[in-house]
Amino acid sequence: MGEYKIAVIQGDGIGPEVTQEAIKILNVVGEKFHHNFTFEYALAGGSAIDACGECLPKETLNICKTADGVILGAVGGPKWDNVPNAQRPEKALLGLRSELGLFSNLRPAKIYDALADACPLKAEIVAGGLDILIVRELTGGIYFGERGYREGKYGEEAYDVETYSEVEIRRILKNAFEVAMQREKRVCCVDKANVLETSRLWRKVAEEIKNEYPEVVLSYMYVDNAAMQLVRNPKQFDVIVTSNMFGDILSDEASMITGSIGLLPSASLGDSSHGMYEPIHGSAPDIAGQNKANPIAAILSAGMMLKYSFHLEKESEAIENAVKAVLEQGLRTPDIYSQGTTLLGTKEMGEAIAEHI
Ligand code: NAD
Ligand code: IPM
Ligand code: MN
Repeated sequence: MGEYKIAVIQGDGIGPEVTQEAIKILNVVGEKFHHNFTFEYALAGGSAIDACGECLPKETLNICKTADGVILGAVGGPKWDNVPNAQRPEKALLGLRSELGLFSNLRPAKIYDALADACPLKAEIVAGGLDILIVRELTGGIYFGERGYREGKYGEEAYDVETYSEVEIRRILKNAFEVAMQREKRVCCVDKANVLETSRLWRKVAEEIKNEYPEVVLSYMYVDNAAMQLVRNPKQFDVIVTSNMFGDILSDEASMITGSIGLLPSASLGDSSHGMYEPIHGSAPDIAGQNKANPIAAILSAGMMLKYSFHLEKESEAIENAVKAVLEQGLRTPDIYSQGTTLLGTKEMGEAIAEHI
């Protein structure tokens, strides 16, 4: 029996729809395993701009900092695409990650047996399943470097700078080696060391750290090749560790190999067990408000919170097993629907998963 206070940022677009299903599942898990999950709602992103004129109100940060875990839907949308950069909904997400010290973003991409057909690659490429973990650096790099406008050779120019310190690189690489020790013990450091100074520093630090993990096999790959290899032979990867921007791009690519971006959860972690849990997808304005979004990524993200922040392993497994069970039953949201399966809406998918807990 545990008491856990969870901060909930529903966000924009499909954010509230998928988050509600994650909460539904957490409530069922709470009942079944005798835990008391309480939810404190907070605003961030476009909905916060509309309600109080700023994308990340102080109160939201306070709620998140004092909670045991944070779940987030998604932020952003066309309505706020023209607000100044410093106040864009996406800035709220970056602010939360940075303020909460969440430098390590775990993005697991797994193919469920029942969804083998949803993978757009030839069956033989992913025969026997796929289980990749992308470890994305989350509070550094070009996302947080110096940026702005200046007078250049051809008039006004814009710039965004990629910066990484040894400290930032070491802690994310260590994290990748640690998680690799629990898996197949293979780490592929994806970078652009043939061009970027920051990537060369990543490799230097990786060469030092690998000595602390003699059982782990470390390899390097340029990001352009990695994007190609993910489609040619994704099974060659176990853990991919990479920078903020490369990790963002490669994880969307990896998600589609598993069938849909609506399936991929993530955990954003720092030095403490405090974490933020969010699907990797965005607010999907094209399907928002239509009960069409796949809530599985959000539900599995809540499952990751149970595991990584609350250390409730069996409860987290119960969520994963319930997801597997509904997929095996042939229940599908539109993004993973195929002939002969049963089409469900967001809410109905959440209910079906809840029934299997
Ligand atoms: P997106 O991930 O929102 O959507 C890309 C495509 O995937 C769309 O066709 C969408 O319908 C589909 N999709 C996404 N999630 C789905 C789900 N759960 N079920 C079914 N289909 C799903 O990316 P985008 O269109 O590039 O961005 C839209 C907005 O979301 C932008 O404002 C962007 O900045 C923001 N965004 C936010 C986050 C976040 O909050 N974590 C992540 C990515 C993008
Ligand atoms: C993600 C998103 C965010 C990112 C955006 C919305 C800032 O794409 O979480 O993957 O790039 O990190
Ligand atoms: Mn992204």
